[in-house]
Amino acid sequence: MNKIDRIGYNHDGTAAAALAAAYDTPPMAYVRSYGCQQNVNDGEKIKGVLMDVGYGICDSPEQADLILFNTCAVREHAEQRVFGNIGALKKLKEQNKGLLIGLCGCMAQQPQVVEKIRQSYPFVDLVFGVNGIDTLPNLLAQKIEGRKRVLQTPVERTEIVEGMPIRRDSSFRAWLPIMYGCDNFCTYCIVPYVRGRERSRTPAAILEEFKGLVTAGYKEITLLGQNVNSYGKGLDENVDFSDLLALLCTVPGDYHIRFMTSHPKDASHKLIDTIAAHPQICNHLHLPVQSGSNRILKEMNRHYTVEHYLELIEYARRTVPGITFSSDIIVGFPGETEEDFEATLELIKKVRYMQLFTFIYSKRSGTKAADMPDPYTHKQKADRMGRLLAVQEEIACEQTAALVGQTQVALVEGHGRGEGLLNGRLRNNLVAEFAGDPALIGSEVQLHITGSRAAMLTAELA
Ligand code: SAH
Ligand code: SF4
Ligand code: F3S
Repeated sequence: MNKIDRIGYNHDGTAAAALAAAYDTPPMAYVRSYGCQQNVNDGEKIKGVLMDVGYGICDSPEQADLILFNTCAVREHAEQRVFGNIGALKKLKEQNKGLLIGLCGCMAQQPQVVEKIRQSYPFVDLVFGVNGIDTLPNLLAQKIEGRKRVLQTPVERTEIVEGMPIRRDSSFRAWLPIMYGCDNFCTYCIVPYVRGRERSRTPAAILEEFKGLVTAGYKEITLLGQNVNSYGKGLDENVDFSDLLALLCTVPGDYHIRFMTSHPKDASHKLIDTIAAHPQICNHLHLPVQSGSNRILKEMNRHYTVEHYLELIEYARRTVPGITFSSDIIVGFPGETEEDFEATLELIKKVRYMQLFTFIYSKRSGTKAADMPDPYTHKQKADRMGRLLAVQEEIACEQTAALVGQTQVALVEGHGRGEGLLNGRLRNNLVAEFAGDPALIGSEVQLHITGSRAAMLTAELA
């Protein structure tokens, strides 16, 4: 692997000066992020950059002078929603001629999307991809100084930009990317094309950010990467993800660590032993299996078998007390037969996941699977999805019911669904709803679990 260049964030102040000249009072920006946590974290950096050049951040598009959609390209449905939402801004732009509208993130990393925006969405002023966040001040300056539209052509970058300003959405839960990109090329997936090659941050850079978060009082820190278990490739030092976790756990403080995503091909006993050895690491493993059929896993280019996967799960169950599992499943991958699908149901019953994120296969142009024969109809796939969800619901219900009567620590994340209710997330990643004072949000409480419905628990303060 080639060495990765690491560069710092800096801009020359042109954008800030242009902005100060163009507005009497500080302009406001609204940034909406779609997709995965990596993208949400990018959105926080975008907000940081915008504040750095003089914007205020607002919570609704109606108050904004700049609206940015930070998009996801992983499924067609996600893309259509974004196009719908952008279309709806046309009216707002007619009422407010000075409004700037931009699209960024993974969709903007695809040339055909940029072309579509160029041709069919003339009221979109600004387009930049995931690799353009540090160049945003420059793009903004060009727009404010009079260029009609600034549409960045997607570029692939191979360096890591450190030291980006960031405005985090929460004061007690933080995302911490440990690596960027993905080299796995699962045949259905667009991510390697839009996020570029896998590159790891140095342990020193991660440790510094981690310490800063702990000092600032963050209670939950989630390490991010498309495949955290391949962390460390291409670094000078010989360090893997388990070593990194152990290093972070040497930092004193009142916090716990989550991480995602673990690719089963690279998850190891060492990782599981590391979770078991450190009370700061949550007893939850998100281990996306995608399919329970070895034939389909091969077609997906996943590089593991159901047998290997189940061995990992069994080892984790033996090694980490109370560990729970969650997973991603794709239903209706091209050529998935009834038999393949039933193998997935079997696997779900064996693992007994607490939570499943399920997706009907979505064809992404440019990926290998897009050229595979796909004889099954959407209706057949949707029927399978219904059957899968019914099986999963039963499993989740049985498992959450087994927790009733226990007392566990939870981080209070926010308001629950009902009046006066709050949500607390247990270390095993389940959410419990309980009555409590909103002042508790952001702190840790002991919850006595009183009841359960599907993947949700009800509780009271212990
Ligand atoms: N890096 C992570 C997943 C990132 S994408 C991993 O390897 O597990 C999140 C999830 O979206 C994937 O796990 C997969 O289940 C789903 N997904 C990705 N591409 C998809 C597609 N074309 N159609 C349907 N679901 C897809
Ligand atoms: Fe996509 Fe596979 Fe990479 Fe995950 S590991 S982001 S599913 S290519
Ligand atoms: Fe979507 Fe990009 Fe994440 S495609 S899932 S936002 S990496």
